[in-house]
Amino acid sequence: MQRRDREGDRMYPKKEEAERLLREAEKCNPGPWGDHSRTAARCAERIASSAGLDPEKAYVLGLLHDIGRKFGKRHLGHVSDGYAYMASLGYDDAARICLTHSFHTDWIEGYVGNFDTSDEETDLIRVKLRTLRQDDYDRLIRLCDAIAGAGGVMKMEDRMRDVRNRYGSYDPEKWEANLELRREFERRMGRDLYEVVSEDPSEGTCGSLEKTGKRRKEEDGADPLFDPDRSGKTGAAAACDRYASCVCGRPG
Ligand SMILES: [Fe+2]
Repeated sequence: MQRRDREGDRMYPKKEEAERLLREAEKCNPGPWGDHSRTAARCAERIASSAGLDPEKAYVLGLLHDIGRKFGKRHLGHVSDGYAYMASLGYDDAARICLTHSFHTDWIEGYVGNFDTSDEETDLIRVKLRTLRQDDYDRLIRLCDAIAGAGGVMKMEDRMRDVRNRYGSYDPEKWEANLELRREFERRMGRDLYEVVSEDPSEGTCGSLEKTGKRRKEEDGADPLFDPDRSGKTGAAAACDRYASCVCGRPG
């Protein structure tokens, strides 16, 4: 199940296994976050190809960065859930991405959202952030997370404004860090970010503003990426009732 890269010190599942894990996770907690993850994965693959990184690794890590949402609607909690889940499968590279994608610094207070973790989970995040030094893939997935909508690519500034509107504020330092992240990868690629992620117009998603999510936001105030749809499907327990074969419990 595990895959090691040439250096033998990084672990992540194969593409097909990652796609299966995401499909299973969506059964546990249905919502637009699954397609948001797929957009992030496609963008990561394309940027990696232009920036001298491993496109398959980038795709897999992009696909799994929000896998913690399998265990229900949480804010900071999805970070520790994802980390614990991936680590329990031995996918250490995917585990670190679950943790690092929400932070532009090594301090937990940089998180934008609700702190809904237990003391134990908070300590885990705090310690890991200080231990892990963010690498190219951490920064790449953070960039893709900031432009990935459920229906395609969003303008980074629009996504950050949406978050600011929902939470009342957005750390100016994180805002600038995201813009610098874009500049960093554009320097590496020698190309405009949106030009790179829009290379395959036949897919009809990347390169255009995400519309479905924006419409839902305007209509009902829901978070277009992470709130469940109107069918009422949400939460690991409810999903487990519905999908008998699904294992939705948090890893021990
Ligand atoms: Fe995300």
